[in-house]
Amino acid sequence: MTARPLSNARILLIVGGGVAAYKSLELIRRLRERGVVTRVVMTEAAKRFVAPLSFAALSGHAVRFDPFSLIDEAEMGHIELSREADLVVVAPATADLLARMAQGLANDLASTTLLATDKRVLAAPAMNLRMWLHPATRRNVAALRADGVAFVGPDEGEMACGEFGPGRMAEPLAIVAAIERALEAPTAIPLPPGVGARPEGALAGLRVVVTSGPTYEPIDPVRFLGNRSSGLQGHAIAEAAGAAGARATLISGPVGLADPAGVDVVHVETARQMHAAALAALPADVFIAAAAVGDWRVEAVGAQKLKKGTAGAPVLSLVENPDILADVATRRTGRPALVIGFAAETERVVENARDKLKRKGCDLIVANSVAESEGTFGGLDNQVTIVSAAGAEPWPRMSKQEVARGLIELIARTMKGQK
Ligand code: C5P
Repeated sequence: MTARPLSNARILLIVGGGVAAYKSLELIRRLRERGVVTRVVMTEAAKRFVAPLSFAALSGHAVRFDPFSLIDEAEMGHIELSREADLVVVAPATADLLARMAQGLANDLASTTLLATDKRVLAAPAMNLRMWLHPATRRNVAALRADGVAFVGPDEGEMACGEFGPGRMAEPLAIVAAIERALEAPTAIPLPPGVGARPEGALAGLRVVVTSGPTYEPIDPVRFLGNRSSGLQGHAIAEAAGAAGARATLISGPVGLADPAGVDVVHVETARQMHAAALAALPADVFIAAAAVGDWRVEAVGAQKLKKGTAGAPVLSLVENPDILADVATRRTGRPALVIGFAAETERVVENARDKLKRKGCDLIVANSVAESEGTFGGLDNQVTIVSAAGAEPWPRMSKQEVARGLIELIARTMKGQK
């Protein structure tokens, strides 16, 4: 079984000024083949080695280097740029750039972005071997490792300057493999407890985790099992939680929605990745499972695209995915005070929700009918019934934003009652 963390991943590539910068063009090409979207920031020195236009052409996006460009900042501010990626990759990471990273300097767009990012950083150093072996660089690399920066390379070999030794940037495919490894774990760096929440608001001071969207379970490198969840409801809940002063983490499956403002977002693809990200986001006060998680995954994912042939149609053997909601709700230690599940049913909505409440061990179920006539999946409105041990309360049909705000009010009341 191989997960495919690369497809749909978003990489912010910071290109430093070294001879190896040309290899980063090849890196973008390799990433693009694997469905990765790359945005590029270059240092001024990098522009002396490779023309920004080459990076723009290959990445399909304008290349950024000026932190004071009004046009660039209006299109996507540097903070947003540093946060919408799943991972930041620095390649080539020159001695100068590593030194600035280690010092926390913010004197160009590359270093400012690295200081402002909320995602993990992978660096591919490239420099002359004396520079690599210099005690100053050794100190900087050790400090960066202690800060959680991952490294790939450098390789040993013939250098551009004619010397031989360690300092060559890792080959593009080795960097791709390191990116894939880095993306297997959640890459969002959480803020320390109590920091980052609005001091006022109905959920001020609370940690809220929300899952949202579908999961994609790979069949082979190009096909997957998925579902029609749009993520609209879960994203609206996460956004409303953030607006109510909570420190909210949204764990999102593949959706066509922008990341909501004021919320930490972790992008995942498969149920197992969502499960790992949900557990990594704990401890939390409130857990809301709004995602439509695939119940099954394909047991043996094809390494190559399955081909039509004489053997007839392939038979897919499925295995069950972990139940994220049940795992969180039945934790012996560190169970969130309030665990809320969703029930998307096509029939007997309330009865099934009651049953689910018991089976999953959660405190509330938000039940909605997804019968085709209701148009809930992908629709803007929702009609939900709140089911708890105390009973079932149907809410009128309203927009998903209004449902989200209603839920946040209900959560605030419930949490106050528990204090
Ligand atoms: O079992 P069922 O899919 O009907 O339950 C729906 C609820 O359980 C939703 O809240 C959904 O997010 C959650 N769930 C989960 N992990 C799964 C399956 C469902 O968190 N593997």
